[in-house]
Amino acid sequence: MSAREHVKIFDTTLRDGEQSPGCSMVAAEKVRLAHELDRLGVDVIEAGFPIASDGDFHAVQAVARDVRRPVIAALARCCRDDIERAWQALAVAAHPCIHTFLATSDIHLQHKLKISRRECVEQARDAVKLAKSYCQEVEFSAEDATRSDHDFLCEVLEAVVEAGATTINIPDTVGYSVPAEITELIQTVRQRVRSIEQVTISAHCHNDLGLAVANSLAAIAAGARQVECTINGIGERAGNASLEELVMAMRVRVDRYPYHTAVVSQNLFPTSQLLSEIVGFPVQPNKAIVGRNAFAHEAGIHQDGMIKNPLTYEIMTPQSVGVPGTSFILGKHSGRHALDQHCKAMGYELERRELDHVYRQFLALADDTKMVEDRCIMEIIDAMRRGDCCVDVANSPQLSIPSKALENGFAVTGPKVMFSHESEQQEDYLWGV
Ligand code: KIV
Ligand code: ZN
Repeated sequence: MSAREHVKIFDTTLRDGEQSPGCSMVAAEKVRLAHELDRLGVDVIEAGFPIASDGDFHAVQAVARDVRRPVIAALARCCRDDIERAWQALAVAAHPCIHTFLATSDIHLQHKLKISRRECVEQARDAVKLAKSYCQEVEFSAEDATRSDHDFLCEVLEAVVEAGATTINIPDTVGYSVPAEITELIQTVRQRVRSIEQVTISAHCHNDLGLAVANSLAAIAAGARQVECTINGIGERAGNASLEELVMAMRVRVDRYPYHTAVVSQNLFPTSQLLSEIVGFPVQPNKAIVGRNAFAHEAGIHQDGMIKNPLTYEIMTPQSVGVPGTSFILGKHSGRHALDQHCKAMGYELERRELDHVYRQFLALADDTKMVEDRCIMEIIDAMRRGDCCVDVANSPQLSIPSKALENGFAVTGPKVMFSHESEQQEDYLWGV
């Protein structure tokens, strides 16, 4: 058992993530993903917003019925109909949580809700009392908390804690804050709200300025013990804090963030892939942790370093997040060393002069194309060994002549070579935690 303090991972992929344009999911898809999130080890799954539609009501109910280990949360505005609908969907859950929210910023109160601050406090308090009459676990979110007047925010939070909320959530709804402000806000809440130590403080950060993960980490360092996040960072507009980035930041930089999460990091990549498959929404290639380039190297200097010791250019093993291995992309930035390793992996032992020749031909080809496919390298080698050193690489950017090696099925995997990290040092680096 870890001595580090536990930070709860509240996954809202099925609710806030689903609010991402083009990411809506039907009940069966939500249940499938919820099982995967359960295997991933998240503490809370927010399954949806039952009042929003009959479909979402049934999806939340199905998740609540089928997924028994984590807490299952459902969203509700601070009004009777929403809260009762949420409870109807959640009643079958092993560990239900009603998540009710109301905006606290003047911008929202005046322009959207058209209610006074007094009405806001009363509505929030009444909603939490009603939710509490159904369900032991009640989370209250002060929507747009980061643009709210701090005194007023504290007043609302104190009222909902008194009414029985078990978690109070501080959303940066429009992704406007910077980490220093989040630190100050969490500290203010901890200092000023009476009985705050009896509840869990949560942070919910959006990514409009690309700061959602940094802000969530700042919240944790300031005392939040729950973070709300989504797989692949999907969510409204620019998205929510990315679950995989948060978890790995705490794992790799445990020296700075000495907290424990129950996430099984080896399941991060499979979960990311499943979400992408379900919503038909690709993961950006350079996405941290789960993007296809996250463990890919093209530059010769990097490939050379990686071959000598993976610690040179990787701060965690691909296997630690469920990616099968490092990949080397062969392109015009690749070096001789990587090409030699690649040829060895394909079964070709090249002498130094042979390697020089293949490397020259390879570079000529790489200058004209983004990535050089295995079958082209094989063709260059085969041609050289046939004594035919005049393969016209310039006019044949992806040489089409099939090679015998192709028939062995080697080249069908495309331009990537997978390397596995066996270095003990690398393991120590990541897992010295
Ligand atoms: O961003 C937000 O404020 C929300 C709340 C409903 C928690 O998603
Ligand atoms: Zn949100």
